[in-house]
Amino acid sequence: MVINSNSIACNNDQSFWLWKKTIEQRTGVRITADRENALVSLLSRRMDELHYEDVKDYFADSLDDAKGAGEWSQLVDSLLIKETSFFRHPPSLGYVENWIERNIKAKSKRRRPIWLWSIGCASGEEAYSLAIVVKQAMERRGRKAAFGIVATDISRKAIGEARRGIYAAKKLTCISAVLKDKYFDQVDDHNYRVKDNLRRHICFLSSNILDDKSPMVRRKMDLIYCQNMLVYFRRWQRREIITKLISHLQPDGHMLVGLGELGIWVPPGLERTVPKTVQAYKVRTAQEETAKPREEIITGFALEQAKRRC
Ligand SMILES: C[S@@+](CC[C@H](N)C(=O)[O-])C[C@H]1O[C@@H](n2cnc3c(N)ncnc32)[C@H](O)[C@@H]1O
Repeated sequence: MVINSNSIACNNDQSFWLWKKTIEQRTGVRITADRENALVSLLSRRMDELHYEDVKDYFADSLDDAKGAGEWSQLVDSLLIKETSFFRHPPSLGYVENWIERNIKAKSKRRRPIWLWSIGCASGEEAYSLAIVVKQAMERRGRKAAFGIVATDISRKAIGEARRGIYAAKKLTCISAVLKDKYFDQVDDHNYRVKDNLRRHICFLSSNILDDKSPMVRRKMDLIYCQNMLVYFRRWQRREIITKLISHLQPDGHMLVGLGELGIWVPPGLERTVPKTVQAYKVRTAQEETAKPREEIITGFALEQAKRRC
């Protein structure tokens, strides 16, 4: 399929194949058959707008770290699925709430702030929801809200929106009037802005989870929250990402992913926790590692999953 004078041909065309492969290698974004036309149109439009005649030149310039960073980021942005909402998966947030409560009880003299990492946070709704849950739980226990959230996404545009923290009123309908009043200011008839009492707990950063160089998580995290992002990656890549993330967890850290995103695979060094309505894991302690062979756990979950599928 030749789509314009720039002659980007779909399917068998080598240039197009190279684009697809490079995008997936660099970002994990897969250009499935149903999205090929969208990519072709996008590339053609950008080449026209930037007056490129040869797709090879456009490819080389876009991949040039110095010259093409802006263009590459814009291209990738157009291909990402950034669907999100406040309190998107209540059972997972309920898990976080219980985890905070338990944590406070167990470490009553704890002085260190708790750190969470929201990965693939899109336009920020997930990180703000987490902040509300954590802050409310801490306040209920009479604690000073000592926590920080690092929220990252590959999309610079989404991170810009997250930092602005302005949301249409219709996006906030799931939030009670009390919480809305406490954490949002009404900007005009249609929009609300997140208040500083929530914002100051969150640091939004644009970062590619496949890029090892990212400096944002030098600190160890108490909880990693990664929902509805892994689903866009190939299975082997999901496992690689999770295995890497484990090294960012505290020795008693927890990790939550979207339901079904890891299937029956139990990441090394972690064990799945209850309830089953969420896909949550905790780091296995040294005693647990020796007490229970990992196969036993995998088999347990494998059986459960298999039963659920029947
Ligand atoms: C469907 S949204 C999920 C948003 C949020 N986690 C939720 O559950 O509502 C997936 C997000 O993952 C981000 N993403 C995709 N590939 C990524 C990568 N390689 N590194 C970081 N973020 C990525 C996308 O930009 C998008 O904002």
